[in-house]
Amino acid sequence: MIEKGPLLVAEHLQMIFGSADSRLEALEEATFSVMPNEFVCLIGPSGCGKSTLLRILGGLVVPTSGTVLLDGEPLTEPQQRIGVVFQHHNLMPWRTTLANVRLPLEIQRLPRDEADQRALAMLDLVGLREFADALPRDLSGGMRQRVALARELVYDPDVLLLDEPFGALDALTREQLNWELLRIWQARRTTVVMVTHSIQEAVFLSDRVLVMSPRPGSIECEVKIDLPRPRSTDDLYAPRFLELSRRLRAALAQESEGTRI
Ligand SMILES: Nc1ncnc2c1ncn2[C@@H]1O[C@H](COP(=O)(O)OP(=O)(O)OP(=O)(O)O)[C@@H](O)[C@H]1O
Ligand SMILES: [Mg+2]
Repeated sequence: MIEKGPLLVAEHLQMIFGSADSRLEALEEATFSVMPNEFVCLIGPSGCGKSTLLRILGGLVVPTSGTVLLDGEPLTEPQQRIGVVFQHHNLMPWRTTLANVRLPLEIQRLPRDEADQRALAMLDLVGLREFADALPRDLSGGMRQRVALARELVYDPDVLLLDEPFGALDALTREQLNWELLRIWQARRTTVVMVTHSIQEAVFLSDRVLVMSPRPGSIECEVKIDLPRPRSTDDLYAPRFLELSRRLRAALAQESEGTRI
């Protein structure tokens, strides 16, 4: 059997913003790869370049140096194979839930019936079919983020990049949406790279956690999460869960101690 190679590769990514006199190095060095169907979390102190890194991985920002490879091919612009969900949903306020989720398919010029069917199937997946005709202003924060997720899933991307998609929500809603995310990931086996500030979230969701240093960010170490799948809320209290959380906390603390000013 031929072993599959990584789906996504980041090679020596560096990002410097600004001009010669106001230079800000956001990202110093990021090199890592993500295997097909893997769930990887990125964790690191605020301002260390996580969102910048995610935007580069999505082809939305061109790095100062370094390369992103998708299936071995250099990535130079946004691609349909990659879906991105940000902390703020950026739904179109005048479009209904269904019309927001359908939008990527309209851009692809899919026939309306087929586009509606696929969008409705996604609304089923995120549990929002009965809100198909609602406008974003009539939805809760968690529901809006689910619509944003459905809008990215509707075109069946190979890679899903999530930038703290539930970060602005209360703890209970966030936990519930993490469950839904796990369920969706298990059902569709998409490859996920997710930024989070939460150690618990990272351990609960991922196969591997990449720990970043303070700005200028670099990938300092990785922690493999060997908890069995499918996971359950009982895992949150398992000795191995606590051990991995402690290890991750220690890795982050070590990074913060070495903060460069
Ligand atoms: N377009 C931009 N122009 C100039 N500087 C930028 C730009 N985008 C980000 N930065 C800077 O790059 C650094 C990293 O920002 P980034 O948003 O990637 O951090 P982050 O790790 O996502 O932070 P947080 O955890 O708070 O979301 C910050 O100092 C930020 O001010
Ligand atoms: Mg960010």
